[in-house]
Amino acid sequence: PRTVTRSEAGGLEIGGVSVADLAADHGTPAYLLDEEDLRARCRDFKAAFAEADVYYAGKSFICKAVVRVIDEEGLFLDVCSGGELAVALAAGFPPERIGFHGNNKSVSELRRALEAGVGRIIVDSFHEIARLSELATELNKRPGVLLRVTVGVEAHTHEFIATAHEDQKFGFSLAGGAAFAAAAQILDEGVLDLRGLHSHIGSQIFDTSGFEVAARRILELQAQIRDARGVELPELDLGGGFGIAYTTQDDPSTPGDLAKRINKIVESECELASLRKPHLSIEPGRAIVGPAVFTLYEVGTVKDVDGIRTYVSVDGGMSDNIRTALYDASYSATMANRRSDAEPLLARVVGKHCESGDIVVKDEFLPSDVQPGDLIAVPGTGAYCRSMASNYNHVPRPPVVSVRDGAARVIVRRETEDDLLALDVG
Ligand code: LLP
Repeated sequence: PRTVTRSEAGGLEIGGVSVADLAADHGTPAYLLDEEDLRARCRDFKAAFAEADVYYAGKSFICKAVVRVIDEEGLFLDVCSGGELAVALAAGFPPERIGFHGNNKSVSELRRALEAGVGRIIVDSFHEIARLSELATELNKRPGVLLRVTVGVEAHTHEFIATAHEDQKFGFSLAGGAAFAAAAQILDEGVLDLRGLHSHIGSQIFDTSGFEVAARRILELQAQIRDARGVELPELDLGGGFGIAYTTQDDPSTPGDLAKRINKIVESECELASLRKPHLSIEPGRAIVGPAVFTLYEVGTVKDVDGIRTYVSVDGGMSDNIRTALYDASYSATMANRRSDAEPLLARVVGKHCESGDIVVKDEFLPSDVQPGDLIAVPGTGAYCRSMASNYNHVPRPPVVSVRDGAARVIVRRETEDDLLALDVG
């Protein structure tokens, strides 16, 4: 994050506060959020996509304080469950700026969304069209909907987070004709207000040609709908998925570059098909919150295994960051409490959980004098870490501490063993 510096004494500071003080006050592990950085990333996206609506994808990380930042910075919000919707509403986020996603929203979730007056619902199946239409009729509403379209793009990312190839659960297939049929059905029935088409090709994507292919294909559908029905849908959402740098090997595009490429392809495709340019929206999650957070851990043990590898065990692990185990994700780590002139040592940073796949950082050079009590910072953990955290091994989930201008405040408190026991009512 941008306000992270190293003091003369060698310890890290974030938002003008030393991480050693943060560890003393809030314990470890802890997710430390640089609020300035989060706001700056919101502004960068908003400035770059000036003519579009930027929906922050709440699945990457959501809590009331972050929702308020998103609101204050003038972004829109994408939620994908009743739980995320509840957080948004509890934080006072304007419902008309919320988009509601999901491939299997329940009747009660849809009902709450309609009652709250969310701006748009992204429909994902024929069953959902029927369910939502029935509710809309019952509640006497005509909700704005987008149609999620599977454009058949092979995004170059991990299989589990690619979402636009044909054989997966999301959206209406373009190639198979389901997308056109769904659009036609919604237009025929007239119960739902079809605002536009939606495509999300996957997450942590660096090769922007995937977005270009997606835009081209979805605009072909737009033209097909216009030709068949005489309707030009006014909106187009190209989803999120913009990759961030987890290590120095990664080279992500800036929001400015992304905006230029996306606008250019949309404009040229619209010109080719004589379409009016639809109002665009995007849904970045990771690119906004990911780099704004690092996790602070304390080292508990250092073990040299027969000269093969050194294992540095920290006080968290796969319960606060499942991404390494689940997606073979790469992270980096740095000593956070002091400077060391000791020789670098290739280490593996591991957690405290009961399995050998509990790896936080696969390979990292740490000073060879790393020892119990040292603090280790793992950057880039703002997205899909706290939001995917678990209580595996009954480890309470860490807090999120927001730091700005020399002041820290807890925005999500640490879970306690009492919290866990409170659920255990047997
Ligand atoms: N829009 C839709 C419809 C999505 O499904 C997603 C992410 C986003 C936007 C935001 O994508 P982002 O800009 O954050 O990449 N747990 C995985 C990522 C799952 C992404 C799910 N959908 C991970 O840790 O890599």
